[in-house]
Amino acid sequence: MNLAIFASGRGSNFSAITKEIKQGKIKVKLVILVCDNPEAYVIKRALRAKVKVILVNRRDFKSRADFETAIIQRLECYKIDLIALAGFMRLLSPAFVRQYRNRIMNIHPSLLPAFKGAHAIEDAFNRKSSSTGVTVHFIDEKVDHGPIILQEEIEIRRSDTLTSLEKKIHAVEHKLYPQAIKLFLQGKVRIRRRRVSVSTL
Ligand code: GAR
Repeated sequence: MNLAIFASGRGSNFSAITKEIKQGKIKVKLVILVCDNPEAYVIKRALRAKVKVILVNRRDFKSRADFETAIIQRLECYKIDLIALAGFMRLLSPAFVRQYRNRIMNIHPSLLPAFKGAHAIEDAFNRKSSSTGVTVHFIDEKVDHGPIILQEEIEIRRSDTLTSLEKKIHAVEHKLYPQAIKLFLQGKVRIRRRRVSVSTL
């Protein structure tokens, strides 16, 4: 099986996944990193891990359709079976989603459907919510939406600061995302009528 990771920023989830692949805990070939931001730190991580980087800058394309066609051509060329969005801060079009239906995972730093959007951790913290969490799901045509694979709740304590909450959330992400990918590759993630069932046996 061939995996592509899509990321736009820091890349801590990229590294968490790469680490488990290197340790032989996830049996997949991480073939490419697709990155839309030439400044992203994740590029350095990929080069260090000897993963091929495909840089697709949206500004170099006239339309989103052209931008996505360029990505799809690369995915086909590398025979990608699974895409893991790891902090990829761009919405993929319905046409792209249809082409890779139930093969595009995303990680989101909240217990979806709560706190959708690009500032989920801050929003939960500022709302003084008593808990938040992490969700790994397949994407569909809507934003931060689609069949949920794994979720974990995280308590927000009164003593938490935004920084301590971010730290807790990232620690859970780095455990949950490799776990979801592993379950998928083992054929333990089944989808029927847009609902996921996960067998942990
Ligand atoms: C992660 O917290 C991920 O959940 C979030 O971006 C961060 C990327 O961190 N994704 C979203 O908010 C998607 N809606 P990383 O670059 O260190 O992996």
